[in-house]
Amino acid sequence: MKKEKNTEENNLMEKIVSLCKRRGFIFQGSEIYGGLAGTFDWGHFGVALKNNIKQAWWKRFVDGRRDMYGVDAAILMRQEVWQKSGHVAGFADPMVECDKCKKKFRADQLEDTKKCADCGGKLGAVMKFNMMFATKVGASDDSSATSYLRPETAQGMFVNFKNTVDAFHPRLPFGMAQIGKAFRNEITPRDFLFRAREFEQMEIEYFTREGDWEKYFEYWKDEMLEWMEEVGIDMAKVHELEVPKEDRAHYSSRTVDFEFDFPFGKKELFGIAYRTDFDLKNHELDYVDEEESKKITPHVIEPTFGVDRAVLAILLSAYAEDEKEGEVRSFLKFKPSIAPVICAVSPLLKNKPELVEYANTKVYAPLKAEFGRVAWDDNGNIGKRYRRQDEIGTPFCIVVDFDTLTDNSVTVRDRDTGKQERVKVADLRNYIKEKIN
Ligand code: GAP
Repeated sequence: MKKEKNTEENNLMEKIVSLCKRRGFIFQGSEIYGGLAGTFDWGHFGVALKNNIKQAWWKRFVDGRRDMYGVDAAILMRQEVWQKSGHVAGFADPMVECDKCKKKFRADQLEDTKKCADCGGKLGAVMKFNMMFATKVGASDDSSATSYLRPETAQGMFVNFKNTVDAFHPRLPFGMAQIGKAFRNEITPRDFLFRAREFEQMEIEYFTREGDWEKYFEYWKDEMLEWMEEVGIDMAKVHELEVPKEDRAHYSSRTVDFEFDFPFGKKELFGIAYRTDFDLKNHELDYVDEEESKKITPHVIEPTFGVDRAVLAILLSAYAEDEKEGEVRSFLKFKPSIAPVICAVSPLLKNKPELVEYANTKVYAPLKAEFGRVAWDDNGNIGKRYRRQDEIGTPFCIVVDFDTLTDNSVTVRDRDTGKQERVKVADLRNYIKEKIN
């Protein structure tokens, strides 16, 4: 990661990156071969965190509604999709190359567009660099075999608009929703998960009559804000930005970005765009509006969320340090609903078979069967186990001790306060269920 001026904030990013590696959340892609910039591999707890975030999104916006249709479209699509969508012609960033060291930079991110920040060489003229990854489909090598890894999940929904209408006969307004990978050949991937070349999006295309677009734009803005709060993003760090015309994507007539105070600056976290009828018109798709008894082209409001930026904002919102027993401890204050591990179960001593047996059969096994994301932790002393679970962001540590064998109660320790309480083993399931909700 590039060094920035503000050391305290830079330290925070370094702490997060290091915690993510140390505790098995996120690793650099292709690390053993020196790393592939802009790619990340997700470890056990990272996958769990990411899955919980995606599930919270799907639960609220798809399962929780009557007007939403889920899609999981192919990543590879015919090149016509990207020609009609305007991405072949217009999905490009301005790029400059250093005459001396040949390093490439994004021109709009440079303070000095004449001199190379790395070697002092002269920077060349600004060129347009298309960010789509091109590939060939099949054995043929001619241009008709060209395809692209999708740079947004949105087009996978537009090209399935007709299929969705024919299969489900939805009435306006209705939406299509998709979670999946997107790929952009970023000139300068940077800031950990923030600007990657391979990442995930959670997108909604919400189809309305033209006259209703403003109403639904406001509605979806509020929905987005509520979801951010639900998953534990620090709302004091979220700011709305009305994106000026010259900075909007080629398909958008209005865009509002939700920016987040990242340690490297106030930057886009998610966005909402009014895509008008741009995409459906270009794909020559329409809709028979029974209410108006005619064919119309619906207009589109698009709330879009980046999964990886959501993970980063949640990590930054959850990261905390305090002092416990004279030592600085770092911990992640994840909401119980999205924490990768909801509780860890420990026998007080791992060399006492009666404690291990009780903890395993009467506490761990039933909780594991119920919640899945339950950890068994008997490594090191209790203090070490607490520190480890604090860094993973586990809200509750359950300890089986000698009293448990006679009173069938366990100690439950709260991650944030460090407070401990005795809870009956028979009540543990409901105790945790209540905390998740
Ligand atoms: N379909 C609309 C669309 O793709 P976008 O603003 O280009 O709009 C949507 O991207 C979201 O995807 C962003 O708000 C951000 O959260 C995420 N995103 C975009 N580029 C990214 C990148 N290079 N790395 C990580 N996330 C990215």
